[in-house]
Amino acid sequence: MAQRRKSPEELRSHRWYGVADLRAFGHRSRTAQMGYSRDDYAGKPVIAIINTWSEINPCHTHFRQRAEEVKRGVWQSGGFPIEMPAISLSEPFQKPTTMLYRNLLALETEELLRSYPVDGAVLMGGCDKTTPALLMGAISMNLPAIFVPAGPMLRGQWRGKALGSGSDSWKYWDELRAGRIDRDAWNEIEDGIARSPGHCMTMGTASTMTSMAEVLGLSLPGAASIPAADSNHSRMAEASGRRIVDMVWEDLKPSDILTKEAFENAIVTSTALGGSTNSVVHIVAMARRAGINFDLERFDEIAAQVPMLANVRPSGKYLMEDFYYAGGLKGLLARLKDQLHGDCRTANGKTLGANIATAEVYDSDVIRPVADPVYPAGSLAVLRGNLAPNGAVIKPSAATPKLLNHAGPAVVFEDYNDMSARIDSDDLDVTADSVLVLRSAGPLGGPGMPEWGMLPIPKKLLKTGVKDMVRVSDARMSGTSYGTCVLHVAPESFIGGPLALVQNGDIIALDVAKRRIDLRVDEDELARRRAAWKTPAPRYTRGWGALFAQHVTQADKGCDFDFLEAGAATADPEIH
Ligand code: FES
Repeated sequence: MAQRRKSPEELRSHRWYGVADLRAFGHRSRTAQMGYSRDDYAGKPVIAIINTWSEINPCHTHFRQRAEEVKRGVWQSGGFPIEMPAISLSEPFQKPTTMLYRNLLALETEELLRSYPVDGAVLMGGCDKTTPALLMGAISMNLPAIFVPAGPMLRGQWRGKALGSGSDSWKYWDELRAGRIDRDAWNEIEDGIARSPGHCMTMGTASTMTSMAEVLGLSLPGAASIPAADSNHSRMAEASGRRIVDMVWEDLKPSDILTKEAFENAIVTSTALGGSTNSVVHIVAMARRAGINFDLERFDEIAAQVPMLANVRPSGKYLMEDFYYAGGLKGLLARLKDQLHGDCRTANGKTLGANIATAEVYDSDVIRPVADPVYPAGSLAVLRGNLAPNGAVIKPSAATPKLLNHAGPAVVFEDYNDMSARIDSDDLDVTADSVLVLRSAGPLGGPGMPEWGMLPIPKKLLKTGVKDMVRVSDARMSGTSYGTCVLHVAPESFIGGPLALVQNGDIIALDVAKRRIDLRVDEDELARRRAAWKTPAPRYTRGWGALFAQHVTQADKGCDFDFLEAGAATADPEIH
């Protein structure tokens, strides 16, 4: 059956531009003021290009040019493009963490789309939280939308070695602290690790989340893996601009694409990628925006059946540039096709199954076959226990196998500053068997749940060759990080979760096979400690921080704002 197409009078923007009243006169005359004639926009879909370009965001430096390429595509298809800047969440610069502002970009995206004469949206993001934020806003507004990922930067280079974003920073920082490389080498690494536009080129949060956007069906097939500096990236941007115009005429909205099955595809894919643990929080939040609830256990169930195929750092060997040449996300999805719901609709109007039907893998060391994975099923595990009644996560694929079943005495840090001040002290009472605990790093405590979960190994242990320890926190961890780190402990310590009750020397037992994280302290003693615990003063008493603290949910619910999750539809603005 032929696809029904909207008429120009059915466009949302018609209410601004197409009617014969005084308000529409104002909209048209002010559009003329910007140099456009009626022929440029009359009866055409208005496409908002939500651009997170900023001079403080190195991952998006090419977005000025890409926005022009998107516009070229929109014009070609008979649309009217309007670029709208939105807050850029720049992972390397924003303190205390970009996660404090993910919901702000989501809110801004939703309200930009709602309050202006927009028929469809092109969402331009990639640096970590920009992707989930843009998608969350677009899901809530539910206009046709397509995501243009920033693409990974080129491989880093240093003295003939490939360097990976984040992962090699941590690795060589430890080498420097242990005295195995000198300052000159460190300075060369600084100049060689990030050498083109684009987001981090390890399988960090950025690469994971842009891949999630694609497998969910919100980008063109193949888009997520193209390096930012590759000319294919420009052509992908232009094609996305062309396609969004047709998506408007077809009325293909996020709610037509984002089914429970689409989100299950995302979890399958994240597992096979060895993706960032951050994706758990973001997938939960995006799904809840779409009215779909996922228990953390669903991630564990799916992860237990899906092997890790992408041999990309930090869990593997290669980088995103290699992944692209090896066949990219489409190649990986083709290898997983028996575990995916192939009938899910996607932005190009075809099903996921159709999009990957002819995809191939060109290097089976970079994208492994199911029979020879980088890591067997279970690269992500969800833990429960008296230390994390509402759940915690760990990435076994990035951990030391023998530490996955470990009990040791706690060394507790009250917050990040306490940890920074004492972690390298010769007086720190710590051994390789200790369990490092960081408090006040959750959604309210951080605030914003910063990526502090990969606590550094104490210097005195580093010097003896210790490279990993069990670490437990209510923080997140960068997707580029690695180690035996128990993360996202919920409820968090700042609101009195059990992590707040741990004392130095208490035994903490981790048993990943049994999915347990427990504090071996008897219940009477814990009750005494609970009664003596005092609620800390709020981090902020005004402004965004106060609003954030009032409304943010815990990690197991996605850290969205309670009033932004799916609910009653929000009315379009009055236009007369
Ligand atoms: Fe932007 Fe890593 S700093 S993605």
